[in-house]
Amino acid sequence: MAQNFKKIGVLTSGGDAPGMNAAVRAVVREARDHGVEVVAIYEGYKGLIEGNVKVFDMRDVSNIINHGGTILYSARSTEFKTEEGMQKAVATCQKFGIEGIVCIGGDGTFRGATDLSRRGIPCIGIPGTIDNDIASTDYTIGYDTAMNTAIMMIDRLRDTCESHFRCNVVEIMGRNSGYIALNVGLATGAAQIVVAEMPFDEERMFEEIMLGKRRGKRHYIILVAEGVQGYAEALTERIEKTTGVESRFTRLGHVVRGGSPTLRDRVVASRMGITAVDLLLEGKSNLVICMHGDDIDAMNIEYALTLDHMYKGKLKPGELDKYSLLDIQHMRSYCIKKAADFKRLYDQALDISQ
Ligand code: F6P
Repeated sequence: MAQNFKKIGVLTSGGDAPGMNAAVRAVVREARDHGVEVVAIYEGYKGLIEGNVKVFDMRDVSNIINHGGTILYSARSTEFKTEEGMQKAVATCQKFGIEGIVCIGGDGTFRGATDLSRRGIPCIGIPGTIDNDIASTDYTIGYDTAMNTAIMMIDRLRDTCESHFRCNVVEIMGRNSGYIALNVGLATGAAQIVVAEMPFDEERMFEEIMLGKRRGKRHYIILVAEGVQGYAEALTERIEKTTGVESRFTRLGHVVRGGSPTLRDRVVASRMGITAVDLLLEGKSNLVICMHGDDIDAMNIEYALTLDHMYKGKLKPGELDKYSLLDIQHMRSYCIKKAADFKRLYDQALDISQ
């Protein structure tokens, strides 16, 4: 242990995700194992500003690994984005002796972690969101559970489609990312998958539905990612009008965000929680835990956020200026590979969709 920490904090922020509790549990148990106390910060950065905290012992994290949601609760805080709010958060850390924080959440959570790290509170981020939309990591906590919940629901929709000779257009969460829609579409044998990342030929889809109809196919599941905004409901009407196949629209919404985490989410969350504590206690700061293949590693948060902006085509003017040519090349090839992997999966899914 490079740092002689006595007390660290843990918080969850942004949209909750199944597996966050497993991460909290791992943080508490790993820290206690090193003789370090853990302060639970309720409702994310809002709770940090307000001093809504409690010292956790092992009993506080017993019987939570199997529960969805987050026992630390979550909230969005506009005040935390202001200098005044930030100073209040730092003051809470000083008041309760919090020497470092593990921050579990999405990219907004990591921006907050960077701001705190800059003000002398070392932070390590853990990616927790069902969306799997953080470019620096192959995996975010909650993703697997959300997809498994979705396939269970869609299998049921398919049963009733088959009985009634219907099409069901299903819109599924994922914010601007098509990862959930793509994998769930593949896993449920969807006739079409519509994601914002890929062009979509609506006319061709109508033709394929009509072809299926001539061949006697009685059910059609069309998966539409939430990121293709305002599209799915209108598409449902057009399918019925153009193909004559009676159609229904279903929005899966927040239901996929709850529920008991799958084995994968529990394992990844636990491994990430342990690694975050180990890094913090080694004296590291301003890092986000990432997963590449089956490896758990870490990346500088600012680098990870820039990588994310590059992947999503949202780089700000001058954002790359502080990086070396080698760094930029590495970021570019990372993004190219990630996009190619997504496209390969999309092409494979479509290959077997008809
Ligand atoms: O980021 C998780 C997520 O569930 C997204 O898939 C969705 O777009 C968003 O959060 C919904 O946010 P809220 O819970 O604020 O409605």
